[in-house]
Amino acid sequence: MIDAMSRQGAGNVAVELMRADGAALPAFEAGAHVDVHLPGGLIRQYSIASPPADRSRYVLCVRREPASRGGSASVHERLRVGQALTISTPRNLFALMPGGHHVLVAGGIGITPLLAMAHQLLAGGASFELHYYVRSRQEIAFLRQLQGELGDRVHLHSAEEGRDARQVLPGALDGAGNDHQLYLCGPAAFMDHITAAAQARGWDASRIHSEAFAPVVPVPSADAAAQDAAFEVQLASSGQVYCVPADRTIAQVLGEAGVPLSLSCEMGICGACLTDVVEGMPDHRDSVQSETEKAGNRQITVCCSRSRSPRLTLAL
Ligand code: FES
Repeated sequence: MIDAMSRQGAGNVAVELMRADGAALPAFEAGAHVDVHLPGGLIRQYSIASPPADRSRYVLCVRREPASRGGSASVHERLRVGQALTISTPRNLFALMPGGHHVLVAGGIGITPLLAMAHQLLAGGASFELHYYVRSRQEIAFLRQLQGELGDRVHLHSAEEGRDARQVLPGALDGAGNDHQLYLCGPAAFMDHITAAAQARGWDASRIHSEAFAPVVPVPSADAAAQDAAFEVQLASSGQVYCVPADRTIAQVLGEAGVPLSLSCEMGICGACLTDVVEGMPDHRDSVQSETEKAGNRQITVCCSRSRSPRLTLAL
């Protein structure tokens, strides 16, 4: 149930969730998110911002998006303290990796998973720094925590003060050691910019970890229809073969055939539908897997990805 709600900087609302019976919530690692079933039947993924050591509550924080598909408007307008909410157990696609130093870089509401990471790193005595880019200081969420216990590890950059990511990059990107890890969360263009800057400074892709808050918008191209050709999907368990036409997803075709699938966002951003690939070459369209994972072709998001080979065999 919702135990408290608070404004966290202009446009953001924090939602504190507790179990109705007061018992401890399931353990989670920093970077994890939960699926939240919102009034109106929507399901949205929100990162947990609170310290993983505190299992009495999960704190989420949601920015009101003017171009909302309904999720952020529902959180801001329809949630109330005391209300019961159904959420999934935490799922982590953005876990901390062992490293000598951790550089956390947030853009806007991308602060939520990185705040939990900062708490976890602090509790474990690990070396880290947190950079938080906002348009204006009024938008800063969790300011008290950032200025308090996290203290001098936090660097706030306000675009209004001439410190957006194009003007000021975290100094730690320069001369980083081979055991340094970089974590990014925020708008896609922001993460692309920081990733490119880090790679230009010698950061290996395997040490750059990111989580998108919105689906990757495919670039429209003249041959888009040609890219979305039909292909076949085979189930490894039964050998059954299904045709996936150009205008349908694997999940739609298998769902209609009664194959049980776990689905949530259906946009390639939550990871609920990740399925093992037995044979074939996926055409990855998700923003859940890293580039390295996509290149390994071990898993596919069946809600949005397609196939480069005529047939894909899935572990279903
Ligand atoms: S259902 Fe969310 S990634 Fe496929």
